[in-house]
Amino acid sequence: MSDRRIALGLFLMGHGHNVGSWRSSPTPAEDLTSLEYYRQLAIHAERGKLDMIFFAEILYSYELDGRHEGALAFPTLDPFVLIPALAAVTEKIGFVGTYSTTYTDPRATALKLATIDRLSAGRVGWNIVTTGADRAAANFSMREHPGKEERYTRATGYVDTVRKAWQAMPAMPQGEPVRVQAGMSPAGKDFAARIAEVMFTIASDRDKAVVFRNELRAMLADVGRDPAGVRIMPGVAPILGGTEEEARANEARYLELLHPRIQLAMLGDQFGMDFSGYAMDAPLPMDDIRQAPRVLSGMRDPARLIGEDGQVPTLGEYLRRQARVRAHHSFVGTPEQLADMMDDWSAAGACDGFNLMFPVQSEGVPAFVDEVVPILRKRGRVRQDYEETTLRGHLGLSRP
Ligand SMILES: Cc1cc2nc3c(=O)[nH]c(=O)nc-3n(C[C@H](O)[C@H](O)[C@H](O)COP(=O)(O)O)c2cc1C
Repeated sequence: MSDRRIALGLFLMGHGHNVGSWRSSPTPAEDLTSLEYYRQLAIHAERGKLDMIFFAEILYSYELDGRHEGALAFPTLDPFVLIPALAAVTEKIGFVGTYSTTYTDPRATALKLATIDRLSAGRVGWNIVTTGADRAAANFSMREHPGKEERYTRATGYVDTVRKAWQAMPAMPQGEPVRVQAGMSPAGKDFAARIAEVMFTIASDRDKAVVFRNELRAMLADVGRDPAGVRIMPGVAPILGGTEEEARANEARYLELLHPRIQLAMLGDQFGMDFSGYAMDAPLPMDDIRQAPRVLSGMRDPARLIGEDGQVPTLGEYLRRQARVRAHHSFVGTPEQLADMMDDWSAAGACDGFNLMFPVQSEGVPAFVDEVVPILRKRGRVRQDYEETTLRGHLGLSRP
């Protein structure tokens, strides 16, 4: 196998990362909470010899007009309850689940992860988040969501406690579960540089990804860690088609799935303001947004709304852009073109692999496994078959 191997994670979220994906999927919405739905996707991913499947954690639901609307909630299961069930119906693929260091207890987390590492024979990783959303606090009987610095300070002590607990236990199959992190702010990157073995990142294009990876690698070296021992994996949202035209038609079809009312509510929820009175074809109301509660509290940066070109998009344009997959890199093209893009990013030093975020999973996952993986395999960029049995082994990470 070539030394420029591309690690592949599959980030599963509801029916897909397009918030309207439930309108297209052959799977009824209520089946999202069934093991069978996830089992089918896991079997595809394992057939493609992917490194891992990733599950996020969402500790609150979006509000619309002061109500929690069913259509707004991302259907989600507790990742570390789902993972052992999926490990029982798969053999080799790894699983990464998210647990918050702000809203859980380190000793309980240490035991839970150690248990799953044993039951899965070393196939588990932990995405360590501090939880960005202030709405989570009320769900945990906390009056206030702690500020970012406080959350990351707690996270540092939390990880230390968990690792000490692990070291006091009988040896685990992969030594310790793999530590994953995705921090984009200075505090988040600093935390990741100290504790992460896999970093999930957001990179809108290749050159930005190169700069970001170089920055993270310099930070790793600064804290005395070997940058070669850490996997940096930006998200990518592929939309495939047999021809470019077909791929663009699929993209247009996915955009049609979106429900403007739901999108407006999600945007409103992010900023804590009501966007329903603004015209879709007028530029985003930046002056009003700068006064929005979650901007004033420092949770949201309005600069992020402005396009790459420095222009303020219209509300409608912004929603269409968001619909693709938030800030992650979106890709529309043929399987050959996607393999080329992955190869190109990897050769340029933009990443060590990708976190795949399909807009509609029931279509994207089998298409990727059947059409893109064989091309990457032929080029020696991904494995022919699993050579290792643990997640740590798949990713080529050393044992702690
Ligand atoms: C691929 C990816 C997955 C993430 N999953 C979660 C998650 O499940 N739960 C969560 O609270 N935050 C999640 N985050 C958010 C990050 O943990 C982090 O809070 C965010 O990137 C902002 O960075 P900061 O905390 O440094 O400001 C995720 C981020 C990325 C890029």
